[in-house]
Amino acid sequence: MSIANKNILLGITGGIAAYKTPDLVRKLTALGANVRVVITASAAEFVSTLSLQAVSGNPVHHHLLDPAAEAAMGHIELAKWADVLLIAPATANTLAKLAHGIADDLLSTLYLATTADIYVAPAMNQQMWKAPATQNNLHMLKEHGVKMIGPAEGEQACGDVGAGRMVEPVDIASLLNEQHALTRHNDPTHNTLAGKRITITAGPTREPLDPVRYISNHSSGKMGFAIAQAAALAGAEVTLVAGPVSLNTPEGCKRINVTTADDMLAACQSVATSTDIFISTAAVADYKASAVANNKIKKTGEELTLTFIKNPDILATISARDDRPFCVGFAAESQNVEAYARSKLEKKNLDMIAANDITTEGLGFNSDQNALHVIWSDGEKRLPATSKSELATQLLSLIAERYSTALPS
Ligand code: PMT
Repeated sequence: MSIANKNILLGITGGIAAYKTPDLVRKLTALGANVRVVITASAAEFVSTLSLQAVSGNPVHHHLLDPAAEAAMGHIELAKWADVLLIAPATANTLAKLAHGIADDLLSTLYLATTADIYVAPAMNQQMWKAPATQNNLHMLKEHGVKMIGPAEGEQACGDVGAGRMVEPVDIASLLNEQHALTRHNDPTHNTLAGKRITITAGPTREPLDPVRYISNHSSGKMGFAIAQAAALAGAEVTLVAGPVSLNTPEGCKRINVTTADDMLAACQSVATSTDIFISTAAVADYKASAVANNKIKKTGEELTLTFIKNPDILATISARDDRPFCVGFAAESQNVEAYARSKLEKKNLDMIAANDITTEGLGFNSDQNALHVIWSDGEKRLPATSKSELATQLLSLIAERYSTALPS
């Protein structure tokens, strides 16, 4: 999975972030990609075509109706040349044109004419990003199989703060490099998951005992965040319900932060009706204190006895709904892994369960690698130890396969 020797057509549209695109070209070529640039008239106001030509080593393409350009590499030839069409920055106007198939310049025409993987890195004022029209266009593009990279949040050129900044060139390049093979248009995972609404729980929950203490576990959230990233790259609309973890939100995912199992249940219930697939990687505390002390519990004797009561089972609650989504559970086990996983599959009324044996050092909780034994009613597959991001891709491919089988024909 890399962009080495891949042909990347970079479309630049007219936003202030266009000034970063010579750097983006350099980052892509440093990873071995062949880059050609198509620039819109308004983008040319923000960045010099001469710089782009110098860093890409290729002439910059401007006009649809340019006899000289057509004689060299015509627009259809350019569309066929590309393995990847990356539009960065993509303005609100560009998103609107692409969503509605308006082909009134070279870039929007290439968008219609190419079969390449298409990635779009939006950049605009935060209010324009939030506007219902932009969000509708975004939804349509995702359904058409376009992958969104960002936008990032933060301070904007106009002084506003919020979502709408173009993701940094270094991050766009490494994301394409790591993941672009995931999102090929002929990839069944992509075809099935594009536009689907996927909710993923991740990380631990934290159950308070008093104002300064809590019980929790060693979940880092890495497994769930890797699945969220892979699902977003496969074109899904991802909601990540995250317990207390110190991980950055994967690009393109909506994140809801929670602390306790009760919080996590409320967050999951609030999005359940608009969820097609629910993936529960969270290590939810099974019990919580029967009463949280108002003041710090004092050290009074040699022993301390606390009473715990059962937490709600989030996954079982979601899978018991009349409008239940396709439900995937996880099981972290230290013994009888398969038997316990199979019993959870049945008891929690799941479509699939991914079991991990946490006795193998370096796998499972708080590590970068894992191995899964995925089980469903009439099948199973072992996914051997590898990075959580690779495993996330493999698991999503299985989920996509099972999900499309489960859909009413
Ligand atoms: O976060 P990482 O450090 O990357 O580690 C990943 C992981 C090991 C936490 C993950 O791969 C994993 O196995 N998660 C499930 C942990 C677990 O032990 O689950 P469980 O056997 O307690 O629960 C079974 C399933 O029910 C899980 O999908 C769980 O999310 C869900 N559950 C459990 C209890 C509860 N009250 N509500 C739930 O939804």
